[in-house]
Amino acid sequence: MDETLSRFLELLEEKLTNEKLVKLTLSKPRRKSDDLRNVYVKPVQLKAGRFFSFDFKFGTRHEVKNFDADQAKAQVQQLLEAHFLQADLFGLETDASLTIFSSGKMKLKSRKITKREAPDMQHDRQKKRLLNPAEVWWFQLGLTDREGNILPSMQHKFKQINRYTEILSGLFKSLQLTDQLRVVDMGSGKGYLTFALYEYLQNQLNLKPSITGVEMREDLVEKTNAIAQHSRLEGLNFALGSISGFPLETIDVLIALHACDTATDDAIAAGIKTGAKLIVCAPCCHKQIRKEISAGAQ
Ligand SMILES: C[S@@+](CC[C@H](N)C(=O)[O-])C[C@H]1O[C@@H](n2cnc3c(N)ncnc32)[C@H](O)[C@@H]1O
Repeated sequence: MDETLSRFLELLEEKLTNEKLVKLTLSKPRRKSDDLRNVYVKPVQLKAGRFFSFDFKFGTRHEVKNFDADQAKAQVQQLLEAHFLQADLFGLETDASLTIFSSGKMKLKSRKITKREAPDMQHDRQKKRLLNPAEVWWFQLGLTDREGNILPSMQHKFKQINRYTEILSGLFKSLQLTDQLRVVDMGSGKGYLTFALYEYLQNQLNLKPSITGVEMREDLVEKTNAIAQHSRLEGLNFALGSISGFPLETIDVLIALHACDTATDDAIAAGIKTGAKLIVCAPCCHKQIRKEISAGAQ
């Protein structure tokens, strides 16, 4: 290994193992065509201990992975050898930067700094989240690992689900909520949003909601029911059926998000007929009627 790179990795190792890393940025991709644009590394405190979070920034998306100190050092070496020409290391007492020139030559600069504050490793966890990824159903739904860490590939989905819950929490403020709130989620699919709403109503608002997800795919109904039963989520169930044919009864809240074809219209009709106080709908692709829509003469 190049001696300059080796010295840089020693500096990095010293910071990784002595809790002195504030952050590390890898930049200047070796190839313009490389989709990986930057990597940002920072320490994070997880249940399993101290790790280093690698935020991989691609052209239009981010991927976050956590590594222990040894893995982190190996990752940085691999990333510098294969992808990046610049590394900027920020520590508690020293900073260092490594520049790799196109000739392959490397330059390492380091400087002492006035003491920098230790990073707040709890920052992300302290952000007020309405949903708790450590709840077992998030693992069973395939969004987290057994320890409740959100899977890197599911980070975006979990954020979306949280955002949906935030939006609903705002809408619920306008309702006179009773303890026995009755909700129907039409076209509940994999159940992510149904479980999220149940968790929010039960854990944040301390209600005992009765929520039914209506879904026409038997495999999804079986799976979501099994998860609800395993977690003993009383009042949460999933029913096999079609939105238009679902037997109507009194409903407080009707939800239909991304239901296919004209199912959103059926859901709105059901919400009106049952006198729902709140109807939350977002249509899908309108597949059935799309073919009947023409742009019209110019
Ligand atoms: C795109 S997924 C949306 C799932 C969930 N609501 C969400 O927004 O994440 C639509 C789901 O609605 C179901 N669905 C579509 N039309 C339906 C209908 N008429 N009756 C029952 N379920 C329906 C589909 O099987 C699918 O699982």
